[in-house]
Amino acid sequence: MERPIGMFDSGFGGLTVARAVIDLLPDEDLVYVGDTGRYPYGPRPQAEVREFARQLAWSLVKQHDVKALIVACNTASAAALDLLESEMPVLVIDVVAPGARALVGATRTGKVGVIGTVGTIGSGAYDRAVAAAAAATGRDVQLTATACPGFVEFVERGQTSGEEVTILAERLLAPIQQAGVDALLLGCTHYPYLAEVISAVMGPDVTLVNSADETAIAARDELTSAGLLRVPDGRQAVHRFRSSGDISWFADLGGRLLGPELRDAEHWHP
Ligand code: DGL
Repeated sequence: MERPIGMFDSGFGGLTVARAVIDLLPDEDLVYVGDTGRYPYGPRPQAEVREFARQLAWSLVKQHDVKALIVACNTASAAALDLLESEMPVLVIDVVAPGARALVGATRTGKVGVIGTVGTIGSGAYDRAVAAAAAATGRDVQLTATACPGFVEFVERGQTSGEEVTILAERLLAPIQQAGVDALLLGCTHYPYLAEVISAVMGPDVTLVNSADETAIAARDELTSAGLLRVPDGRQAVHRFRSSGDISWFADLGGRLLGPELRDAEHWHP
């Protein structure tokens, strides 16, 4: 199937998922939209994020004829997954359920944590998804969920290490440390870029879980069952990147975060 996979996020965060998808499905064409002109989504009302997610999803379907949509943003997944699943004429894959499954699979003690934006944590999406993943595996799991406002802004500025980020991380992660978790899910696709700092604050006994790989596996499995995987024919896969913000900044920082597949970015308008 020659149609591309569409992906979107509020900005650079979904590139963590794009990396995993490109690595796992190197023959697939991809169109990624980063809504950097309207980031961050985390502090916005759920109704507004739903509307943004709907615009992005429909534009990928109408302008690029995508065969599947990966909602590479936890905040948008938490706010709009039900709407997208009922409205979109293509496969919809989110990051919340795969992340919750990976978290439950990673814990030994059953004490787990999730960090995300104010919107994601406030929505209760992870309380429901982790409870469902625990029930499916017969595990008894205790979840501590904490919002980390400010993390996304550091990543969008390209500041992923240093004293300022560490001080903020120490303050925001205190409730997770106190809960004594042994596995922590990075429930925002921007956070893997801060993994070094988060890991240094949490210490070596806490496993950091990232939903990107699990989401890429879910995408591969769903595309395979639907018979939608592209058949390799010698043509190199095309990866397109679009942004509603400054496209030269998107290409510059995005290229450093994602790797060589992101050299140029094109404008995207809502
Ligand atoms: N990367 C988005 C997420 O996974 C985030 C954020 C934002 O714009 O606040 O939630």
